Amino acid sequence: MTTNPILLGVNIDHSATLRQARYREYPQTCGGIVEPDPLAVALLAEQAGADGITVHLREDRRHIQERDVLRIRESIRTRLNLEMACTDEMLSFALQVKPDSVCLVPENRAEVSTEGGLDVVGQRDRVAKIADAMAGAGIAVSLFIDPEEAQVEVAAELQCPYIELHTGAFANAWHNVGLRRQEFTRLCLAASVADDAGIKVNAGHGINYINVAEVRKIPHLYELNIGHSILCRSILTGIDESVREMKRLMNYGC
Ligand code: PXP
Repeated sequence: MTTNPILLGVNIDHSATLRQARYREYPQTCGGIVEPDPLAVALLAEQAGADGITVHLREDRRHIQERDVLRIRESIRTRLNLEMACTDEMLSFALQVKPDSVCLVPENRAEVSTEGGLDVVGQRDRVAKIADAMAGAGIAVSLFIDPEEAQVEVAAELQCPYIELHTGAFANAWHNVGLRRQEFTRLCLAASVADDAGIKVNAGHGINYINVAEVRKIPHLYELNIGHSILCRSILTGIDESVREMKRLMNYGC
């Protein structure tokens, strides 16, 4: 039996974090002294084998800006996955940009990064409204959820083609072997429930060059979305090597 390779979506938000750290007030995002350009990072990631590019346009615009998304949309050859909060503002932006997919995420201004999964059980009506509008525009919808059966069941009821399992709790438990096993089991169970329901299983958050050795064993994985570790590694090795190494580790374990 042959198994399909696990795809890699490279989240390039933190290239914009670096730019914004110095050039927050500058109107332009490319050329001249304003570096790095997230589009250049996206194109390098694609050349290195990324299967898609992910960006998160946050309400506070702390990293990626609208202009980045539009430029990336025009120029990449793989898929654009837009992470977004369930707001009307983001809905109309997504309908304008028409990414290949959106991943609906919770958003909290105070968080450093997306801290928990979207509570699709508690926010079912709002999620359903956004998911319906996206489906109507031909944009695939993914829900970024904690690995809980109840959350997966609602994703199935809303007929979402993808979920993205939040691997943050697993990553944070790395040094506590018992808890790590528990979190891994939760991920495996949620992935199996999703697969039984015909939903494709993505995963992301906190995946790095070490823990990917276990993450890759979650059953039914379709795609991993990875940002921080790849961008951090690229400072030492360049984007080409940091993407290639992650793809190797994901699919071959070495
Ligand atoms: N997937 C989602 C939905 C996210 O919000 C993030 C963080 O922006 C990631 C994946 C990537 O996480 P990391 O940067 O820790 O690899």
